[in-house]
Amino acid sequence: MKLHVLRFIVVVLACACAVVVISNLRAQKAAANEDKFAALYASLGMPVPVQTPAAPGTQEKTVAQEGREKNIKLLGDLPASQLIPVMNYFASSMGRRCNFCHVNNNGQWDYAADTKPEKNTAREMIKMVLDINKTTFKGTLQVSCYTCHRGRNQPQSVPTLPLPIPSPAAANPGGAGPGAGGATPPAGQAQASPNPTPAMPSADDIFNKYIAAIGGQAGIGKLKTRTAKGTIAQANGNAFQFELLQSGDKFYFMVTTPQGAFERGFDGQVGWEKTARGVREITGGELATFKAGNGLFVLISLKDQYARPPRVRRDKIGDRDVYVTDGATADGKRLRFYFDAATGLLLRRVTFTPTMVGNIPDQLDVEDYREIDGVKFGFIARSSTIESGNPVSTRTFTEMKVNTAVDDSKFKMPAAAASPNP
Ligand code: HEC
Ligand code: HEC
Repeated sequence: MKLHVLRFIVVVLACACAVVVISNLRAQKAAANEDKFAALYASLGMPVPVQTPAAPGTQEKTVAQEGREKNIKLLGDLPASQLIPVMNYFASSMGRRCNFCHVNNNGQWDYAADTKPEKNTAREMIKMVLDINKTTFKGTLQVSCYTCHRGRNQPQSVPTLPLPIPSPAAANPGGAGPGAGGATPPAGQAQASPNPTPAMPSADDIFNKYIAAIGGQAGIGKLKTRTAKGTIAQANGNAFQFELLQSGDKFYFMVTTPQGAFERGFDGQVGWEKTARGVREITGGELATFKAGNGLFVLISLKDQYARPPRVRRDKIGDRDVYVTDGATADGKRLRFYFDAATGLLLRRVTFTPTMVGNIPDQLDVEDYREIDGVKFGFIARSSTIESGNPVSTRTFTEMKVNTAVDDSKFKMPAAAASPNP
């Protein structure tokens, strides 16, 4: 029996980017892997994964513990839900697809085979990345595949000539070059500007302005539930219908796919997924990401998502001026929000999932704000991911209601899902 991935569908749902990789991986028994790199986790600033399976529901299994893969030598300690995202990260770092390292025999993937030399080179590279971060960067995750590769399989190590021609204004700061001295005003004068930039707002100012822009605390305070429907259009041309229910931090969503209904839910405690293949509980790091991405307030209560007040900087999205808040969540993930400097509305959220070989970014762009019972919601949400086969999914809401009665049983893990040893 060949292990293969029949299909990946990234669907983007709910209030924020629940990026769901439906990977039709066939379960497969594999020899237990040795956790050769377990010791490196601590130095990479990551929790060391448990070596023996923990009580079901409390800890996500690692790739090795799940034992589905046949030929994992280095990545056995990855949380199982990170394996395919990390593979996508490799592919996008190289600017290639899965077939750069893996063989496909007549439409049948053999991911376990080491036929391609690139796969073994990738293993050497994984070792190098773990080692560089450990020995040179004091165990922080600084160097990743993308640091060198930047979308090319052969990284560029020398500058391309000619260098860009410096613009006149930028010509002098280095002080180098013959005859550069006379014509340019001294540094102090050069910095005087007819339009001094306004003082930078504090993070609190930005969050308060956002709350006011979407309708104010009074309206938000009354918000209890949201139900919505819409479509998801993917860059690869696929389109699906989706349905969403939210009640506080509980949520349920369903996408209609050619393989049948794809459902995910969270009842305040237990996260789950149901597909044609069955039901599974979502646990550990995957559950944390799932919760953080889908509750009713995840794009409303932004301040609370930071462990400490974030830094603020200016930036641009297209020609719009934005303020960016940049900080870390309590579980150590980087999180950025981008606000329109003029309207105060949230335009973008970028989250980062740390893995042993790199930070995987996820971007959500929100637009078309419309008011429903006193609170504004974005009716278009575009999610961009590192999945090169399907980089962008756009969710468009066609129907949205707030504070209607929601059947709480929808959030519960379906009975068929009961875990084998509860
Ligand atoms: C740059 C090379 C590279 C690319 C591109 C790449 N992989 Fe991998 N893949 C690897 C390496 C290396 C391993 C083995 C890791 C180990 O030994 O711990 C692996 C292992 C796997 C496995 C486990 C197979 C088994 O049974 O042992 C799967 C599944 C997989 N890759 C899927 C994918 C998919 C899907 C893609 C495209 C999204 C992809 N890979 C892209 C290098 C790559
Ligand atoms: C410090 C810089 C650096 C980092 C970090 C790095 N690489 Fe590389 N990689 C290189 C260089 C340089 C080459 C080209 C070597 C050559 O031409 O012999 C290369 C080559 C490769 C190749 C072979 C490409 C080909 O065309 O045959 C693969 C596959 C690869 N890297 C995967 C990875 C993966 C996966 C990661 C992250 C785990 C990674 N690299 C991280 C520098 C880096």
